[in-house]
Amino acid sequence: MNRIFTPMLIAAGLGLAVTVTDANATEAAEKVAVCSGCHGAEGRSVVPDNPVLASQHGTYLMSALQAYVKGERDHGIMKTMAERLSADDMAEITAYYAAQAPHQSAVMPTGDAARGKDKTAACAGCHGADGRSENPMFPKLAGQHAVYLSKALQAYKSGARKNAMMAPGMLESMSDQDIDDIAAYFSSQAVVPAESNPEQEQVQEQEGEQ
Ligand code: HEC
Ligand code: HEC
Repeated sequence: MNRIFTPMLIAAGLGLAVTVTDANATEAAEKVAVCSGCHGAEGRSVVPDNPVLASQHGTYLMSALQAYVKGERDHGIMKTMAERLSADDMAEITAYYAAQAPHQSAVMPTGDAARGKDKTAACAGCHGADGRSENPMFPKLAGQHAVYLSKALQAYKSGARKNAMMAPGMLESMSDQDIDDIAAYFSSQAVVPAESNPEQEQVQEQEGEQ
């Protein structure tokens, strides 16, 4: 049987007619071998600087890879990594990571999660309650490494990482401590299973139809 688990949203977004079959899944697993050294087996990173990719929205992961290529995100290694990938590779790899079981960061955050929670009211509209985003364009923050989340927020604040929706103005009034507290809060929230990704739900419906 032809098991499809490509996020169709990714394919649609790229204008590509990509469907990932079991054979493609094996290929994807081979293609991510080079990534595993930093992002962990199946994207389950245990290194606080390196983001967990497992169960992240595929649509978001795709836009992240493209941002490195375009220079909207400034990171030497990730730019090199992303530039080596074809559009098909990117679609396969991001679908692969989106389908993996989630990984809860076990690294103790330095910030105060309880204080952080009070500063996250403005975030829920996009990142979901407790960072459990259901919208494939908005990254899940729940369970991500706090060190990585802090660095990302600092990069938006300084303008080093550019995104219209994460405008520096939103973070202007936040101190380093505030940022660490917010990162601690989201990092300590329970991860969301990959099955809840809208992309995966669509796949399950398709499988049901076959
Ligand atoms: C040498 C270590 C290293 C390797 C190898 C590596 N990465 Fe990364 N990756 C990182 C780091 C560090 C970051 C965070 C960079 C930043 O702050 O923007 C990152 C960020 C990312 C992000 C953005 C995640 C997010 O939440 O925004 C994606 C997607 C990604 N990597 C995919 C890959 C893929 C796919 C490969 C293999 C083809 C790969 N990486 C190989 C270290 C690595
Ligand atoms: C209007 C929608 C919106 C709001 C409100 C918003 N975000 Fe975001 N956020 C996004 C989008 C879109 C991205 C991905 C941007 C990119 O590609 O760099 C993002 C990315 C992030 C990232 C990087 C995640 C990663 O994996 O690299 C962090 C951390 C983050 N947001 C935290 C916050 C916090 C904290 C707040 C509230 C103070 C907030 N966001 C409010 C839309 C939003």
